[in-house]
Formats: sequence, structure tokens, C-alpha cells
Amino acid sequence: MTEPLFSEDEEFDRPRLAAHGPVRVRVPAKINLHLHVGPARSDGFHELTTVYHAIGLYDEVTARRGDTLTLTMEGEGTGELSLDEDNLVIRAARALAAETGHEPHARLHLKKQIPIAAGLAGGSADAAAALVACDQLWGTGMSRDDLAAIAATLGSDIPFLVLGGTALGTGRGELVSPVLTGGHTWHWVLAVAEEGLSTPTVYRTFDQLGGNSNAGTPDGLLAALRQRDPEVLAGELANDLQAAALHLRPELQGVLDAGLDAGALAGLVSGSGPTCVFLAEDARHAALLAAELESRDCCRAVRTAVGPVPGARVL
Ligand code: C5P
Repeated sequence: MTEPLFSEDEEFDRPRLAAHGPVRVRVPAKINLHLHVGPARSDGFHELTTVYHAIGLYDEVTARRGDTLTLTMEGEGTGELSLDEDNLVIRAARALAAETGHEPHARLHLKKQIPIAAGLAGGSADAAAALVACDQLWGTGMSRDDLAAIAATLGSDIPFLVLGGTALGTGRGELVSPVLTGGHTWHWVLAVAEEGLSTPTVYRTFDQLGGNSNAGTPDGLLAALRQRDPEVLAGELANDLQAAALHLRPELQGVLDAGLDAGALAGLVSGSGPTCVFLAEDARHAALLAAELESRDCCRAVRTAVGPVPGARVL
């Protein structure tokens, strides 16, 4: 039998009636603590074994009643992101409406802090938030597991962003199971690049470079998470897409070196990049590291974030 992703208590807390006022949903970014990439499959996706980790850098989707489906936005990516039918927020709302038989009517507003095309799954996060927001606005009564199933049809990372926390991802990343980390908080510093990287291009480059995996199994990483020792975790972080991201953006090596030189316990490219993520000992160390990285002027922005945090949740 498959374990449900969400506890009964969490399901019990969720109202089943349509909301009349605005529904505000907050959703985190993700990093991959371990990302093993296997060969390309016949559908073009790569078989993954990954450990997802949701971090406290958030987007927000607000859903209000409306006569049609509309999307507005503010923050990161405004003016760059298309707000039409291609946008994952709109696609998520339409997918939920189609699945539940509701009219796809809502006025959606996206407030973005997660940089776009950054390897932090910002677009996937917004789709997860839209599913949770429209679910509540329309009172569909879907379980979180049902939402995760719709999420999987929209993108590989989206079921994880509905779940949050720390989770093992398999398949193309859409099959997620929670990893219990005993309530420990990890401290991260993110170096956000000036310009994004296209995820398909990074995967294609991974193949062109020979499709070699160094990451192996996530067993060492999972054991390190249980040990709650950042020095141990530092030795287990791994990302098979890092070489491809560095091939496309050689200057990222300078960012990784700057973080390590500034005292990070470890540094790696987040997902398909180009964001670089550094592990700190604690909150104070993360603040010092962030200040030092900022002073070196090697990236567009520096952020601190803790993890794990919950997935898309109504505020
Ligand atoms: O699933 P998602 O839409 O986020 O994937 C974006 C792109 O990343 C895919 O079109 C594919 O090129 C690449 N990808 C992949 N293997 C995966 C996940 C993503 O090749 N497991």
C-alpha cells in the first residue's frame, strides 16, 4: 500500500467549502541536496534519484473570485514572465478545473521573490501554490495526494512543492516520499546569478558531456541528515548537473570558490543552476557568510534561507 504523503491531521484542517474572500498561499523554493541523473528515457526526461529540500524563500499566489481566469504579478521576473496560457499558474488552475469540473474562473495574483530560471523551481512553486489556492477558492475538497497527482502532470518538481519539507524524489522527480529529519533546521546562503539558465539546455549539456553520474545513491546524505551535523552533511551534498551548469557558465566556479573561501562548509549548484547554494553552521554563520559574499560582488543577490519548511500552504 502506498503511504499517504500527508497526515490525517493536516487533511482534517482543510476546509471543504468554497472561500468567498481572497485565498493567499505561500510556497517555498527548493534546492536539491542530492541529485543523481540517470540516462535519458524514451520520453526525453531523465530518470532521477534526488533529495529535495524546501527552503524559506517564498512566492505567494492570491486567488480571488472572478468571471474569467486572469493573472497579474509583481516582484522577480515581472515584465519577463509571460502571463498568458503558457504560465504555469494558469496551466495549474486550468488543470485543476478540468479535473474537478469547476469553471476555471479566478483572479490570480503572483508575488515573486524566487528568482526565475535559477534552479530553485520557482515556476514549479507557483504552479503548486495555484493548485492549493484554487482548490480552496473553489472548495473542490481534493486531498493533497490528489493535488500532487495533478501536479505531476504539470512538471517534475511540482508534487514536491505541494509537499515541502525534505523528500526523496524518483522517476523524473515527480514521485516523492517524505524524509523525516527530526525537526532539525539547516542554514543556507544562496548566491543568485545575474541571468538564468534553461533547464532543458542544462540536461542536454549533461548528455553531451557523456551523461556521467558522480552522485551515486543518496544513502550517505540521508544518514547525514539524521546525524544533524552540518560538517557531515557538507561532505554528502552532490549534484550531477553541476558540471553541465559550469560548462555553460564557467564563471560559476568563481562563485563557488568565493563561498568556500568565505568559510562555507560546502557549496554546490542548485538543481540545474545557476544559483549556488552554500551550507552554513548556524544562523550567525549564515549571516556572516552572506555579508562576506555580498562584499565580493560576485553575483546579483545573496539570500539566507533555512530548511526544511512546509510546501504550499494557505496563510
Ligand atoms: O518537468 P519539468 O517541466 O520541470 O522539466 C523541464 C525540463 O527539464 C524538461 O523538459 C526536460 O528537458 C528536463 N528534465 C529532464 N529530466 C527530468 C526533469 C526535467 O530531462 N527528470
